[in-house]
Amino acid sequence: MSSILLSLSLVSSVLSYPSLRPRLDNGLAKTPHMGWNTYNHYSCSPNESIVRSNAQALVDLGLAELGYRYVTTDCGWTIADRLDDGSLTWNETLFPEGFPALGRYLHDLGLLFGVYQDSGIKLCGSPPDQVGSLFHEEQDARTFASWEVDSLKYDNCYSDAATDYPNVNYEPSTSPQPRFANMSRALAAQNRTILFQICEWGIDFPALWAPELGHSWRIGNDIIPEWQAIFRTLNQAVPQTSFAGPGQWPDLDMLEVGNGVFSIPEEQTHFSLWAILKSPLTIGAALNDDATSINADSLAILKQKDVISYNQDVLGVSATLRRRWTEEGYEVWSGPLSGDRTVAALINWRNETRDLTLHLPDIGLQHASTVKNIWAGSTAQNIRTAYTARVAGHGTILLELQDTTPSNYYPSTIFTKSTGNATMFQSIYGQTTSPNYNLTITLSKPPTTPTTITIHTHPTNQTTTVHIPPNTNEITTHLSLQAQPSNILTFISSTPISSLTITPPNGTYHPSTDFTVTGTADHTACKEGCLPVGSKITNILPNSTAYATIHSSRGAKYLEIDYVNNDVAFDSAWGWGSNSRNLTVSVNGETPVRVEVPLSGQHSELFGPGLGWWDTASFGVVVDGWKDGDNEIVVGNVGGEYGFQAFGADFVGVRVFE
Ligand SMILES: *[C@@H]1O[C@H](CO)[C@@H](O)[C@H](O)[C@H]1NC(C)=O
Ligand SMILES: *[C@@H]1O[C@H](CO)[C@@H](O)[C@H](O)[C@H]1NC(C)=O
Ligand SMILES: *[C@@H]1O[C@H](CO)[C@@H](O)[C@H](O)[C@H]1NC(C)=O
Ligand SMILES: *[C@@H]1O[C@H](CO)[C@@H](O)[C@H](O)[C@H]1NC(C)=O
Ligand SMILES: *[C@@H]1O[C@H](CO)[C@@H](O)[C@H](O)[C@H]1NC(C)=O
Ligand SMILES: *[C@@H]1O[C@H](CO)[C@@H](O)[C@H](O)[C@H]1NC(C)=O
Ligand SMILES: *[C@@H]1O[C@H](CO)[C@@H](O)[C@H](O)[C@H]1NC(C)=O
Ligand SMILES: *[C@@H]1O[C@H](CO)[C@@H](O)[C@H](O)[C@H]1NC(C)=O
Ligand SMILES: *[C@@H]1O[C@H](CO)[C@@H](O)[C@H](O)[C@H]1NC(C)=O
Ligand SMILES: *[C@@H]1O[C@H](CO)[C@@H](O)[C@H](O)[C@H]1NC(C)=O
Ligand SMILES: *[C@@H]1O[C@H](CO)[C@@H](O)[C@H](O)[C@H]1NC(C)=O
Repeated sequence: MSSILLSLSLVSSVLSYPSLRPRLDNGLAKTPHMGWNTYNHYSCSPNESIVRSNAQALVDLGLAELGYRYVTTDCGWTIADRLDDGSLTWNETLFPEGFPALGRYLHDLGLLFGVYQDSGIKLCGSPPDQVGSLFHEEQDARTFASWEVDSLKYDNCYSDAATDYPNVNYEPSTSPQPRFANMSRALAAQNRTILFQICEWGIDFPALWAPELGHSWRIGNDIIPEWQAIFRTLNQAVPQTSFAGPGQWPDLDMLEVGNGVFSIPEEQTHFSLWAILKSPLTIGAALNDDATSINADSLAILKQKDVISYNQDVLGVSATLRRRWTEEGYEVWSGPLSGDRTVAALINWRNETRDLTLHLPDIGLQHASTVKNIWAGSTAQNIRTAYTARVAGHGTILLELQDTTPSNYYPSTIFTKSTGNATMFQSIYGQTTSPNYNLTITLSKPPTTPTTITIHTHPTNQTTTVHIPPNTNEITTHLSLQAQPSNILTFISSTPISSLTITPPNGTYHPSTDFTVTGTADHTACKEGCLPVGSKITNILPNSTAYATIHSSRGAKYLEIDYVNNDVAFDSAWGWGSNSRNLTVSVNGETPVRVEVPLSGQHSELFGPGLGWWDTASFGVVVDGWKDGDNEIVVGNVGGEYGFQAFGADFVGVRVFE
């Protein structure tokens, strides 16, 4: 019997940590599973020669030895009827040698045997009808075990009894969870450990319940062979990244790499992000059949060993979205790797080649001794604060950073240039323009007599003198920095400085309840959500705003906008539908700055508290135009009538780092 260990579950707290929730732990999928599946290339028309020739290609092309081992025949494999004994069987025209033989063929190649079934009465892709596993879970699990199956992808078509089993119902009146639980139990009862891939398209926020039942869950609707599916999928992944971990992987859906729908830079973006978000990596291209073989450039992407190693890293921690520059068209994700390394991805959303810069503090770092640029095939040493590289349109700068120091910490051995008695620290990062940073200076050794240090800041042009009492080697003073990555601090000091630590201001929070609304915009109380204030402003249409007066100082300020968005958009996923929302922010009548926010919901859109519209997330953006004294800030959705969605995100509050 496979063993199922349930760890303790925290009851009732809607904010309990994912790691404290129960999960299926039967030793499988300690790292995300990798393999090949028929669907993205062959749709619901697989056959034996297709599966066999692609499986052989996995071995011949060196993909199997890199970890791509689960070979799954998706929809199209079975028939409308069960055998006389009620068991499932294959379509004999398409699979003349049969499924058990297919399993043996795969096992002989050193591969794993994946099958596909459905938690409804019919498979997706019917008609022609193919029978589903609903109410036959135990017998079907027994059949799969007897065929020596290694994994089951379990889908969600024709499953909603309450509406008489339509092909899809994205808003069922009951959760899909019990149907998946039934199959999970049936698999667990078998004399074989079978990987269970939950595929119910993200309905009812499975991140909260799927880890207990299976090894992965699809976070959203199908990937479609269109570039916009990448942005939509990443927006959907944002609130789920914290749920990834050994044995429980958010599935971003199968890869389109090699199917000729994306450019090479686009395929690199797709593969990089799926890898570092710890999605299962399932190849969906024709590797080799009578008509097709994969092109060399796409194959090289699928075989990129560093990227695969990030996906398979033993830590099993997903990268998270760190910053998105909506107006500038790029964004940064990063996450930890074993060996004190960090992986970062900067996506160029514009379809033009350009230089883009990663500011290391945006991923929590100040310095890296080594930066490997994976797709450029280059390595740089001693990177302080910022790393700039050229990136093709829709491409990604994928970086592995080694031997790093945390942000806000500046050792003099790395950051200084000395001339006479002046010591110049360069590449000092300013997140926001403010006179309210704190600077802690650490001296190499405590002076024996009272001494002074004079500090000059550039470009904020402030000169400060601090007095150091004897026998002290650390002193803190105020510091003024500008919102840019290359402030310069010059110190005149008779005692050498060993390092600086700079604390950015914490800012001041302005809840939505401090804002006045116009047009359709309206204050809405949230029972136990929309933290920290328990209230938000909704219905922000293009002609509607929320405004407030905020006392501050001049310059470009970093803001954190607290927002809510749970526009899961399952229906519109088949076209240009989007699950993002826009908001605009302007200060003192300057040009509004647009932010396009991802989903924030971490609860069920059907049954969860506030239907997932009470879950707040933050989005960082720099907005210029602030002056000393009173400022008028306007939150709205200027230009929203030209987007997919005229409604802006709901607005909870803003922290101004001043
Ligand atoms: C299997 O599919 C391939 C590709 O669609 C096709 O060329 C071939 O004829 C099919 N074979 C059978 C037995 O259906
Ligand atoms: C098997 O598949 C073929 C090709 O799609 C189809 O024509 C045939 O009807 C199927 N057989 C059964 C019994 O469903
Ligand atoms: C799960 O299985 C039980 C019996 O094993 C059955 O009574 C129940 O209806 C099933 N639930 C669903 C949602 O299919
Ligand atoms: C389960 O599998 C093991 C090893 O494959 C075998 O020895 C044992 O007899 C099996 N038990 C059952 C009930 O099939
Ligand atoms: C991106 O640019 C390339 C080259 O200019 C062009 O071929 C391609 O169609 C563009 N892609 C999109 C999605 O606009
Ligand atoms: C630093 O050097 C300048 C001349 O280069 C001198 O005028 C000044 O007194 C020195 N300051 C300290 C603190 O030693
Ligand atoms: C810096 O400040 C000093 C003294 O306040 C002033 O004389 C000087 O012109 C300023 N320099 C710049 C570049 O603003
Ligand atoms: C800076 O130091 C002052 C005085 O110790 C303290 O009140 C303030 O909170 C500090 N600010 C930050 C951003 O740490
Ligand atoms: C600033 O925020 C940090 C982190 O949230 C907190 O630890 C610290 O106490 C805050 N400092 C002040 C002065 O509020
Ligand atoms: C704002 O626009 C919405 C539709 O976008 C419209 O229904 C509403 O009447 C407008 N309200 C005002 C005050 O203009
Ligand atoms: C956000 O605004 C941009 C620019 O107008 C637009 O292309 C995009 O469709 C908008 N997004 C949504 C969700 O409406």
